[in-house]
Amino acid sequence: TPSPRLRRIMQSLVTHLHAFVTDVELTEDEWAKAIEILTATGHITDDKRQEFILWSDTLGVSMLVDALAHPAPDGATESTILGPFYVPGSPLRPLGSSMAEQEAGTPAHIFGQVRGLDGKPIAGAELDVWQNGDNRLYAVQDPDAPEFHLRGRFRTDDDGRFSFWAVRPVPYAIPDDGPVGKMLNATARHPWRAAHVHLVVKAPGYRSLTTHIFDAESDYLDSDTVFAVKESLCLSFTEHGADDPGRPEHVTGPWVSLD
Ligand code: DHB
Ligand code: FE
Repeated sequence: TPSPRLRRIMQSLVTHLHAFVTDVELTEDEWAKAIEILTATGHITDDKRQEFILWSDTLGVSMLVDALAHPAPDGATESTILGPFYVPGSPLRPLGSSMAEQEAGTPAHIFGQVRGLDGKPIAGAELDVWQNGDNRLYAVQDPDAPEFHLRGRFRTDDDGRFSFWAVRPVPYAIPDDGPVGKMLNATARHPWRAAHVHLVVKAPGYRSLTTHIFDAESDYLDSDTVFAVKESLCLSFTEHGADDPGRPEHVTGPWVSLD
């Protein structure tokens, strides 16, 4: 059945597409090339590699759709991109435990409190967390990593507090061996994302929040290739020596924490 909403979307898309073609005076060769690029995108896209999401992300569309869908009310933590490496079904881990199932970089203590807009702590909120290791790979991309390495779900305690061990994140290049990589290269852009840890926070009766913690000292904060950095999400890690108190037994060298 015809959809009035789809008609409105298609009419606007055609209007803007024609304006764009007119604006840049697109040539026949350039349009043929564009169709070639779209065809190549379809050919390398499968379950493991969603090249069209890379287009959406690197052209800033994902962040714009997110901004329209999730305006952050005053006092709320801001949202950012989900990215292609989220995998549902991470194990529920005890508070205070580590998501690193093998050596993956400098241990990082991450902790905080989940609160509602009224400032009241939310007990039993769930944090679903994932990140890459110092080899830059997420476990889903790394055949040598255990399935649940650097992934985990944590539930807040009665005071809404959470605490877990991750590793200090490192910058990461989005897959750049396909059509999107060629576009980045040909337009003098780089494929790097600023160092970050992903989290989705959920609690019954509340809207869920998809966001990142960015390392405030990372490279690429002002040129993240998918435009996902927001200043309020950039947090500073404090560096600790191997012997600083407050580290658990599994930490044997230098570490960092979010305080
Ligand atoms: C991430 C990776 C991507 O390739 C992308 O397009 C968006 C986000 C990420 O690792 O967070
Ligand atoms: Fe990421």
